[in-house]
Amino acid sequence: MNCAIEIRNLSHLYSPGTPSQVTALKDINLRIGHGEILGIIGHTGSGKSTLISHFNGLLKPSSGTVLVDGEDIHKDKETLRSSRFKVGLCFQYPEYQLFEETVFKDIAFGPKNMKLSDDEIKQRVLRAAQYTGVPEEMLEKSPFDLSGGEKRRVAIAGVMAMEPQVLVFDEPAAGLDPSGRKALINLIKDYHKKTGCTVIVVSHSMEDIARLADRLIVINGGTIAMDGSLHDVFSRSEELAGMGLDVPEVTKIFAQIRERGFDVPLDVYSVEYAEKTILSMLEGGNVQ
Ligand SMILES: Nc1ncnc2c1ncn2[C@@H]1O[C@H](COP(=O)(O)OP(=O)(O)O)[C@@H](O)[C@H]1O
Ligand SMILES: [Mg+2]
Repeated sequence: MNCAIEIRNLSHLYSPGTPSQVTALKDINLRIGHGEILGIIGHTGSGKSTLISHFNGLLKPSSGTVLVDGEDIHKDKETLRSSRFKVGLCFQYPEYQLFEETVFKDIAFGPKNMKLSDDEIKQRVLRAAQYTGVPEEMLEKSPFDLSGGEKRRVAIAGVMAMEPQVLVFDEPAAGLDPSGRKALINLIKDYHKKTGCTVIVVSHSMEDIARLADRLIVINGGTIAMDGSLHDVFSRSEELAGMGLDVPEVTKIFAQIRERGFDVPLDVYSVEYAEKTILSMLEGGNVQ
């Protein structure tokens, strides 16, 4: 079966052939299946944003191939154009890109570019507003009158309204407070559950990634250093530390509890799961 996204031998150089040439990606191979929810982690400058900008052809590979749903997106102009609609990219701080007079118009911008009928556009805007928790009465407001968190939701709704097969988020929760972060991560999780679309999330926060992703890739120095389940990756904490990364805080706490002689599991990556684990141990009488 075709992958949602397949990357073959992708390398990317910025400013090639000049003194400021940077090799941002080196020979990346990656297959992302339909309906997967994939997390991407890596130190600043490791190449995460460069990688995801190739998923919908925003950047052109220096060498290698990008296939969306089995098709080389750089095959011709038409394929490249349609890949922009198949793969929705939501950049870091997307709220800075809001510019229309009303929230409705901003969410409708993408679908409008797709040349859909007015009726279809309206339905998509309403659906996307519902997914992101943007109330209907907000649609006629100016986006500039909203709070930071509300603007972020509107910007995300704009990408969702294109109803892409693959939705990619670069640091979706950056700059939000802990409750805003949690709400946004849950929103993405619910959207994935409801639509079954492929979701890719780049994040610095191991807690957010642990809450969201089933599979995790680690980018280091423009290459894929690890690719596996949450457990596969987080159980290699020393290697992660060597790349300037960390396991979730709660995982470290459980390792310390175990060092003090309590028989707790080590595969605890989220506070929710930690709570469940402790409660069931208390109920089972395993803890004095
Ligand atoms: N537009 C650009 N021009 C030149 N170099 C860039 C550009 N964007 C990113 N880089 C460089 O490419 C490397 C990877 O950057 P980036 O993909 O932004 O990493 P990340 O998203 O993981 O922080 C870094 O060394 C960065 O400095
Ligand atoms: Mg980045």
